[in-house]
Amino acid sequence: MSYHAIQAAAGAIKRLSGRPGHTVVAILGSGLSSYAEHLPGATAIPYADIPGFPVPKVAGHAGTVYSVEMEGIPILILAGRAHFYEGHGLEQVVFAVRAAIAAGAGTVLLTNASGGCGDDFEAGDLALLSDHLNLTGQNPLFGPNDDRLGSRFPDLSAAYDPDLRRIAHEVAAGVDVELREGVYAWFTGPTYETPAEVQMARRLGADMVGMSTVPETIAARHMGARVIAISLVTNLAAGISPVPLSHEEVQETADTARERFTGLLDALLPRLA
Ligand code: HPA
Repeated sequence: MSYHAIQAAAGAIKRLSGRPGHTVVAILGSGLSSYAEHLPGATAIPYADIPGFPVPKVAGHAGTVYSVEMEGIPILILAGRAHFYEGHGLEQVVFAVRAAIAAGAGTVLLTNASGGCGDDFEAGDLALLSDHLNLTGQNPLFGPNDDRLGSRFPDLSAAYDPDLRRIAHEVAAGVDVELREGVYAWFTGPTYETPAEVQMARRLGADMVGMSTVPETIAARHMGARVIAISLVTNLAAGISPVPLSHEEVQETADTARERFTGLLDALLPRLA
């Protein structure tokens, strides 16, 4: 997807939302997209109305952009993300976040569901990503670099912004939500990991394993946006969990965490501007 396609999508977001600029974009992960539905005064734009936006296919990923003002801060909320395992190329996977950044969002909040493999991680935990492991051999920046988007060799030494993480911990304490922190290992899916893969990731330093987020982080850092990411640990990872993994369990945990997740995002989003 070219620079021009990204600019065209950004233009469509501005036009269809009626807001000339947004300062923050949040992407809602598996089972978490209902967050956007309770936001008062939000304008909903179907992904299908924005040129170039990939329409997600997984249950629990709706495919709607919400434009909303929270405490005076214009925010975009992307309910539904395209995953690599659906067959989208990584350029398509990161297209929506690139368009949102091109539409003005200098800060990106990514959310996801993950399996927990770190010491003491439990199903239902909310955790900030402190860093990631890209174990896939894939990268959304493969191919010629477009210097208008960012540099050829982006630095990832602080991919998940330390200042934003500090703010998130403060905000979480203020709304009485427990927020952990850990390293997220990206696997492509769509299979859940094997127990051996989970043990590998754990020994390499992972606390969570999942199928998203890392490409968007890379693309956002490439464009110079600040990134913060929150994972909902929906289950213990394969081999640590005493039961087989299922999408139903992921959805059920997301349902039980909804109130905490909503409280945290309501308080945090306007603080990220
Ligand atoms: N592995 C990968 N992705 C996930 C998991 C998991 O255990 N749980 C929710 N998303």
